[in-house]
Amino acid sequence: MSRQFSVAVAGATGAVGQTMIRVLEERDFPVGEIRFLASERSEGKELTFKGRKVVVRKLDHDSFEGVDIALFSAGGQRSLDYAPSAARSGAVVVDNSSAWRMDPDVPLVVPEVNPHAVAGYRKKGIIANPNCSTIQMVVALKPLYDYARIKRIVVSTYQAVSGTGQKAIKELEEEALAWADRIRGGEKAGTDEAYGYAGEYEYRAYPHQIAFNCLPHIDVFLDNGYTKEEMKMVNETRKIMEDPDIQVSATAVRVPVFFSHSEAVNVAFEKDVTPEKARELLGRAPGVRVVDDPSANVYPLALDAEGQDHTLVGRIRKDISQPNGLDFWVVADNIRKGAATNAVQIAELLIREYL
Ligand code: A2P
Repeated sequence: MSRQFSVAVAGATGAVGQTMIRVLEERDFPVGEIRFLASERSEGKELTFKGRKVVVRKLDHDSFEGVDIALFSAGGQRSLDYAPSAARSGAVVVDNSSAWRMDPDVPLVVPEVNPHAVAGYRKKGIIANPNCSTIQMVVALKPLYDYARIKRIVVSTYQAVSGTGQKAIKELEEEALAWADRIRGGEKAGTDEAYGYAGEYEYRAYPHQIAFNCLPHIDVFLDNGYTKEEMKMVNETRKIMEDPDIQVSATAVRVPVFFSHSEAVNVAFEKDVTPEKARELLGRAPGVRVVDDPSANVYPLALDAEGQDHTLVGRIRKDISQPNGLDFWVVADNIRKGAATNAVQIAELLIREYL
């Protein structure tokens, strides 16, 4: 019988943790023992794995004895606190937070782009899973980069609330339902007041209403005027593509969509790439699906990407403002390819090539 692995999921009750569990099941990962870890609040709660009930335990430093692979998605602080303990216990950590991504001794891996980097896990016993917006962008850029090298990327994101976690999904639902109640109630219908809460509602996930709104603010603002999320796209893209010279400017926007991030990407290449050539290259790239027939209203949509693992690319066109430029639209499920699926793919690479 082929080897089975003991797997722990830290953050098992969260939006990404739950999907990690489903993806392990779907892909039939060779799991011998499974351990579900979360905060004290969830201790004793029962989750299922392949039809069996598994009791959630509290994440602690001694949670990883005998574990081969620890998938972490319990927030950056938990990764900083517990990933080293997991590694000391002998587990290889695949961490979904940003805590370790830019550590030079931690590889940052997208299996379609830099699978060889996994070997770097030996240094600290940790492999970082990139930021969701970065993953889908580099999956689409890699085949184009290999053909024509990239000088500069300008990207604007339209990011789903699920990226903020369970509480933000609930918040968008509650705001939308509250809005519907007000409209149905009739008295506010057609007035400006119907479309905002004017301070009546206590926002928890975001500093403003997210329903029927767009927030150009993801994570904290930095001294250079960009947000931390935007700078993740700059720094992580360079690390994954192994090219410190790629210039990236990003604007990250939270939109009232439950699942899947969309991105408008503008790229300047070193040599010309026609849209036809780009479609051909992307058409045979791993993990990519070209969805590009605008005359028939066919282009990548968040609702179509939801629940699948492909990165959808469409609206591919020549940038009329510069030589050697392309514009396109990239959509992927942020919880799946942007987080859980990419982490499980890294674990698959690890057991196939290294463990
Ligand atoms: P819990 O459900 O017990 O709070 P999301 O990003 O969807 O909000 O999920 C966050 C995940 O991280 C959840 O599984 C959550 O567990 C877990 N988590 C949050 N804080 C801690 C903590 N202090 N210790 C362990 N797990 C935590």
